[in-house]
Amino acid sequence: MNSGVSVAAHSGGSSSVPCHVAIIMDGNGRWAKRRGLVRAEGHRAGVQALRRTVRAAGELGIDYLTVYSFSSENWSRPHSEVLDLMALLRRFIRHDLAELHQNNVRVRIIGRRDDLAPDILALLVEAEELTCDNTGLTLVVAFNYGGREEIVRAVQEAARRAVCGNLDPADIDEDTISQLLDTGGIPDPDLLIRTSGELRISNFLLWQCAYTEFFFSPLYWPDFDRAALEDALAEYYTRDRRFGGLTARASP
Ligand code: FPP
Repeated sequence: MNSGVSVAAHSGGSSSVPCHVAIIMDGNGRWAKRRGLVRAEGHRAGVQALRRTVRAAGELGIDYLTVYSFSSENWSRPHSEVLDLMALLRRFIRHDLAELHQNNVRVRIIGRRDDLAPDILALLVEAEELTCDNTGLTLVVAFNYGGREEIVRAVQEAARRAVCGNLDPADIDEDTISQLLDTGGIPDPDLLIRTSGELRISNFLLWQCAYTEFFFSPLYWPDFDRAALEDALAEYYTRDRRFGGLTARASP
């Protein structure tokens, strides 16, 4: 459990600090356009917002923060923008990894790895290995990530194990698939925040969001900060989570 607002400070149902918050960081481009800046400036400001949010999440007692930093579909953006986003990831890991480690943050990466540039892959592995024993906030970075693609890879792995005789198809259940996803071992998100006023899930954590509460913020991502995160939590605390039953519960 992280420092900050403890779960014990709240009691019952969604009045507990969400264990896992996921964020679709949207609106960098529009933030930049509104200021007459190039889109890359919006992404740079987005990294600052990410730093603020990681700090705030740890302070507020959130255990897992998952951020959508580059989707499988983002490859279709102009090449120059893809290069900008790759450069930002490199810079984020090179500049921020030591501080994240010092702050006891564990980094995990989800998404497809086999088509990444070797130096990017090496940085992602370095970030995971350096921080693997940390016990504070887990920062899950979704990079080259797509929800459907992740499910396909999990099903392929289950099929491979079945063909090898290591898995009886009759034994495949929801838990089997959950554990084979990139997020294996991470609890499902309690709260998903999307910024910029868009009302879509955009192929993010499709399996994991079955019972997640959604919060849509009108802010562009570079304007997101601790107060905005607290607004989302305040709304989350008003929600009755019934997981298909009739009474509010903290988990399925
Ligand atoms: C969506 O804004 C944002 C992204 C596609 C990238 C998110 C990346 C960051 C916040 C920077 C941090 C990144 C790393 C790699 C650590 P958009 O460009 O779709 O904005 P728009 O919808 O206004 O055009």
